[in-house]
Amino acid sequence: MLLAQSLGLNTCWVALTYRKKESVARVAAGERFVCCIALGHGKSSGTAHKARPVERLGRMDGDPGLAGAPAWFIAGLEATQLAPIALNQQRFRFDLAADERTVRARALPAVSCGRIDLGIAKLHFELGASTVSHDWKFA
Ligand SMILES: Cc1cc2nc3c(=O)[nH]c(=O)nc-3n(C[C@H](O)[C@H](O)[C@H](O)COP(=O)(O)O)c2cc1C
Repeated sequence: MLLAQSLGLNTCWVALTYRKKESVARVAAGERFVCCIALGHGKSSGTAHKARPVERLGRMDGDPGLAGAPAWFIAGLEATQLAPIALNQQRFRFDLAADERTVRARALPAVSCGRIDLGIAKLHFELGASTVSHDWKFA
């Protein structure tokens, strides 16, 4: 989807408001049809959504304000603020371990799509953090 956006297309994740039967997707044995993706030229290119502050999306042991957080961790969190999410929930959390290199990402209880949102947010985190440093990893 990021590639499509970068080529000038508009995209939208769709988990709820579509009819599976009308999709041309082939679902192989062992696969699950979880979501579809709309690609095309939108009436508009979307609007900015409200994002939680980074202090609510990430945590660091003993440093709730993230004042001493490494720059790559903040860059990762800032990228998750831009991630598309279902129902504007942002029900995910990134915890930086005491070694200051290991990030544990988890989904918080959500109305729906919490784990899909987490996957999307993790990709955004990785892209954002990696602009600053590759010296970190997911737990
Ligand atoms: C996992 C997921 C599922 C979504 N499912 C639907 C959906 O069923 N119907 C819909 O209209 N939008 C759906 N959306 C789109 C969002 O509601 C929202 O429009 C989109 O994430 C763009 O938001 P933004 O412009 O605020 O970033 C979904 C988004 C995500 C990430």
